[in-house]
Amino acid sequence: MSAQNDIKKVTLLDLQKQKKAGTKIASLTAYDAGFATVLDNAGIDFILVGDSLGMVVQGRETTIPVTIEDMIYHTQLVVRGCRRAMVMADMPFMSYSSAQDCMHNAARLMKEGGAEIVKLEWGELEISMVSRLTDCGIPVCAHLGLTPQAIHKFGAYRVQGREDDAAKKMIDDAIALEEAGADILLLECVPMALAAEITRNASVPVIGIGAGADVDGQILVLYDILDIWPGKRTRFSKNYMAQAGSIQGAVESFVNEVKQEQFPTPEYSFE
Ligand code: KIV
Repeated sequence: MSAQNDIKKVTLLDLQKQKKAGTKIASLTAYDAGFATVLDNAGIDFILVGDSLGMVVQGRETTIPVTIEDMIYHTQLVVRGCRRAMVMADMPFMSYSSAQDCMHNAARLMKEGGAEIVKLEWGELEISMVSRLTDCGIPVCAHLGLTPQAIHKFGAYRVQGREDDAAKKMIDDAIALEEAGADILLLECVPMALAAEITRNASVPVIGIGAGADVDGQILVLYDILDIWPGKRTRFSKNYMAQAGSIQGAVESFVNEVKQEQFPTPEYSFE
């Protein structure tokens, strides 16, 4: 057997074991084979083919114009560059607004794109869709908190769940999503105490982006950590290029800092 065949793929089971063992999960976005290989070699646990590609790759203002064809194409590229990490793909805006579209497009991301899990933003997503995807054997990551596909509804990229009723609703939603079969919860721009409570209550891995350190893992947008996105820097992302000097080194520093619980510090989190 060749060395290539000896590489063991990261699966949902591995991520669940990491949650139980208290070993932090490290994840980044990627949109092509070259960067996927860099991330894979650095020991990233899963790669998200995020619809953030609309902004960082396509140069758009929001993720809204991204199509299912874009997502399938970029997922195929990432899968080609990735041997070990699990590959998650985003379902783009309005690709899951009906049960029929949801099933059809999730299946396309897996069959044509090669994704191993799909991510949907809570809002457009309905609980019944999570159950249906789960019944069909399609793993689901549910994205809560700041959901960028709803940016025009939010009006601004802001921390979510600061008010008591909004925090309670997020806790209830997280429980309902897990009960419906969600395999991973992803919290974006959520106060750290709220993210910690959701993580304590959840038996599935909870991944944070701008959600503090007391979650099961961290994800950031690759272009942010490499400082190559000309847009406004988000408060919760760290420029790893400044200290590492090479792309491979920057990604390895991110993975090490997440695993050793050195990232995120309060400076990259919200009260
Ligand atoms: O599209 C994306 O990159 C994401 C991350 C911000 C989690 O959803």
